[in-house]
Amino acid sequence: MKKLIVGNWKMNGSLQTNADLVSDVVQGLPASLNCGVGVAVPAVYVAQVQALVQGSGVAVAAQDVSQHEKGAYTGETSASMLQDLGVRYTLVGHSERRQYHGETDAVVAAKAQAALAKGVTPIVCVGETLAEREAGQTEQVVKRQLAAVIHQVGHCISELVVAYEPVWAIGTGKTASPEQAQAVHAVLRAQLAAATEHAGRVPLLYGGSMNAANAVPLLSQADIDGGLVGGASLKAADFLQIIAAAN
Ligand code: 13P
Repeated sequence: MKKLIVGNWKMNGSLQTNADLVSDVVQGLPASLNCGVGVAVPAVYVAQVQALVQGSGVAVAAQDVSQHEKGAYTGETSASMLQDLGVRYTLVGHSERRQYHGETDAVVAAKAQAALAKGVTPIVCVGETLAEREAGQTEQVVKRQLAAVIHQVGHCISELVVAYEPVWAIGTGKTASPEQAQAVHAVLRAQLAAATEHAGRVPLLYGGSMNAANAVPLLSQADIDGGLVGGASLKAADFLQIIAAAN
């Protein structure tokens, strides 16, 4: 499978800095791009960034989507709206949404389903906290998180992207070792394989302090098909080195 590198800008950016960053990334892409590249941008900048990446092969992703179809949900963005703009992917269940916005496994599953129903590929984020890892619950937690989505989306499982993001590695500079990450990815792959014969088609991304220095060893693991990159995706040179490692 081709690798997939998605930058998650989180709540960062402005018209000016987006234009500078995307222009540097697009200009620095490998002449022959053999991996998928995407950027998950704040909803308010989706249209701007779509115009900026046009013709470059870089896909635009949203960072969240509502589980509701439409109506009185102030502040939310529906999957139809993302479809209307031609948005390719949306993150669902990022740990920051789970932690600060109370998103449960059931809500995350409903969001994944809402996105799939409109042809927007959900990038389902799962991952354990430090306390859960230290209590030996990593496998149990990520399996529970993924199971909720698998049960909800039925035969569409093979259309998902899954991102393993250990919460203790996000924005901390502490990366999971390639072996730690691979061990969890293998668990996720096996879980998908029990649910669909097309588990090999589901990209499993690693996220959590991925950077130019650790991208190569992480991306060379058997079940690591790409990266979900936070901080390093805000610096064109770093993001480009990660893309080069995946290419
Ligand atoms: P960092 O790469 O900044 O640790 O963020 C990871 C992440 O949360 C991507 O979604």
